[in-house]
Parts: sequence; structure tokens; C-alpha cells
Amino acid sequence: MNAFSFYNPVKIHFGKGSIENLRKELPQYGKNILLVYGGGSIKSNGVYDNIVALLNELSMEIFELSGVEPNPRVETARKGIEICKEQKIDLVLAVGGGSVIDCAKLIVAGAKIEEDAWDIVTKKVFPKDALPLATVLTLAATASEMNSGSVITNLATKEKFSWGSPAVFPKFSILDPTYTYTVPTNQTINGIVDTMTHIFEQYFNNATSTPLMDEMSEGVLRTIIDVTPKVLEDPTNYGYRETLMLAATLGLNGYLSLGARGDWATHNIEHAVSAYYDIAHAGGLAILFPNWMRHNVHVNTAKFARLAEKVFGIEVADKSNEQIAIEGIEALSAFWTSIGAPKKLADYEIDETHFDDMVHHCMVNGPFGNFNKLQSEDVRKILEMSL
Ligand code: NZQ
Ligand code: ZN
Repeated sequence: MNAFSFYNPVKIHFGKGSIENLRKELPQYGKNILLVYGGGSIKSNGVYDNIVALLNELSMEIFELSGVEPNPRVETARKGIEICKEQKIDLVLAVGGGSVIDCAKLIVAGAKIEEDAWDIVTKKVFPKDALPLATVLTLAATASEMNSGSVITNLATKEKFSWGSPAVFPKFSILDPTYTYTVPTNQTINGIVDTMTHIFEQYFNNATSTPLMDEMSEGVLRTIIDVTPKVLEDPTNYGYRETLMLAATLGLNGYLSLGARGDWATHNIEHAVSAYYDIAHAGGLAILFPNWMRHNVHVNTAKFARLAEKVFGIEVADKSNEQIAIEGIEALSAFWTSIGAPKKLADYEIDETHFDDMVHHCMVNGPFGNFNKLQSEDVRKILEMSL
């Protein structure tokens, strides 16, 4: 392992009815709450009514920012920042999936600076301070509820970048698996693909001797693969939703990458694709990641073979590591296709028109990826393999 420092101060309230924890958590921050949410799912499934009733009981002053988009836009965060500054907001409560939470992270950081919010995303300004943020998670996928990262899109410039700061760790997050019962099948699949890819991106790392991290990651992956058909068949089963929710949070809260720097190249390429085509993040990952694997299988074939055996149960007797590794990649691809995830860019009617732009977007900070550094030609190759 590499030497490491680890910090994650997010308090998690997990389980059915955990929304009740708002009663003891909120009063310590003040009365003015900015409720941030998306396109209306929380209104149709009753989560909004629950929360507003509770805030009213606590005599909170409620302000609202609704309509946060999947792939949240900087313009929407700017609106939230204005409300925070004008109304002297004490705490921002994000209710939704990763997009809502990521937007709220930019709001709490942007509320403390004079510069434009996009300067934070492009790393011209590094936020040292932020308003308090709390989250109520409604979709298991990104782990934004327990990390300090955020991904924001600027449609005007066709850019989508991730940024992060310890200042925007949520103070606490409420994770009630029943709130995910209404997540539609396609978004449940997206959450599964995103979570699995987060674990893969950390599993393929730049460290040697990581047996504990490897075993933990493989265990979470096997658990997700086991529960996936069950939850798709029975989406209001508490146990299945609970398992997925915890897996997603563990997938990117830092616990699976202690002492090892993950790769993250596929996420960088996917953000470039989404910047141009505004597709679902996990849809892009499902297409790109198996091709990243095929492109990099020779970097450390033994690690790919280990994954194939331990997670996908590939029979290893009398086979070379390369053969085992390739069978594992095909097993992953087949698993994702079997649950309805996209396989090719053509599934989104994406062709090579913007490949040059996407390669440029990826290379903005130079060659990238910690398992294997990708150059422009590698990115183009992976995009071409994904057509
Ligand atoms: O907008 P509403 O109406 O709420 O509907 C949402 C949205 O349409 C819906 N949804 C959420 N909870 C629901 C529900 N529908 C019914 N019932 C519920 N309980 O699901 C749709 C997608 O929501 P979104 O928040 O966009 O999904 P996700 O959580 O997958 O977030 C994706 C965003 O997170 C970024 C991605 O790039 C993308 O912008 N990421 C953030 C990361 C982070 N902060 O650490 C890491 C990830 O790798 C990722 O890049
Ligand atoms: Zn992701």
C-alpha cells in the first residue's frame, strides 16, 4: 500500500424512518433552510411532504430551489447561491440523487465567495469555507452523500468537470432505503453500473500489496451482482434496496481506496462524453469501462484475472491469465447488457463527430489515469472501440 491520510467526517443516519433525525440535527444550525431538489420525483413519492411537515414542526423558515437537472448545471447552482446570499441561509438541505447533492455542494461553497461559481469547478478558486450542507438521499449511486466531490456541467461551454473540497463534506446524510422504492428501473440500473464502476476504478490502482482492499472490493461487487436481479424483480423489497444503498455509499466514500490511488480514467472520458451529449453518467460508463479494460488488460493481466475469478467465478484451470482476464471482461459486459445497460455509443446515437473535442476535454490537465496513464491516442482508441 501507499502511505495515506484519511478524513471523512460525514455522519450517516441509515434505515427506515431515519428522517426523524432531522429533529435533533437541524436546530443546531439555525432557522433558514434552503431545500434543494430535482425535477419533482420527491413531490410524487411523498418525500417532499414528509420533509416539509417536519421542517414546519421545527418552525424552520423554508426557501426552495427546485429543478436541479440530471448532470446539474452551473446556472442552477448560481440561482441557489443568490438565494443563500440574499436570505442568509443557515443550512442547505439537498434532497435527491447525486445531481441534487453535487449542485448543493457548489451552492454551499459558492455562497462564501465573491467570484463566480464556475471558477470553483475550473479550480481557479479553491473553497476553504462553505455553508453547512445536509442531504437526504433518494437514489443509490454516486456516494456524493458521503464524499467531498461534485460534478458540474456548463452547457454553454460544453464542459463537465469534477471538483472537490473538504469544506463541502455534508455535515450529515439521511439514508432511508424506502425513499429509493420509486426509483425507476433504468435509474436503478444506472445506480448499479455507477457503483460497480466506482469500485473497479479503485480496484485498478497504482499500489502493490493491497490484499485487504482487494478482498473488500470483491465482496461488495459480488454482493451487488447477487442482489441486482432480485431488486429489479422486486423493487420495493426493503432488504434489497438497503443492500444497494449501503453498497453505493461504500463504493465511493474512500473506504475502498485506503492506501491506493484509483485510476479514474473512465470517469474522465465519460464526463467528456456527457458534456457533449448530456447522457446519463452511468450509461456512458457501461459503454466505456469494458473497453477501457480491453485496452489496458496487458498492464497488469494478473489483476484482471483475479477479478474474473473472484467476482465473476470464471473457471481458471488450464487457462492463461490472459484468457481468464478476457473471459472476466466479457462476463462483466454480458452482465451489464443482461440487465439493460447500454453497450455502444450508437445506443445514444453518438458517432465520431465530436471525438476530437472529447479527447481535448479529457486532456485538459494532460495525460491521466493512475493505473495506466492515457495519452490522446489511447482515449481516441477507447472511444472508437465504443462506437
Ligand atoms: O430530478 P428528480 O425528479 O429528482 O428525478 C431524478 C432524476 O431524473 C430521479 N430520481 C432520483 N431519486 C428518485 C428518482 N426518481 C424516482 N424516485 C426517486 N427516489 O433519477 C434521475 C437521476 O438522478 P441523478 O441525481 O442525476 O442521478 P445520480 O445519483 O446517478 O447522479 C448523477 C450525477 O452525479 C455525478 C454524475 O456525473 C452525474 O452528474 N457523479 C457524482 C459523483 C460524486 N459527487 O461523487 C461521482 C459519480 O461518479 C458521478 O460522476
Ligand atoms: Zn460515477
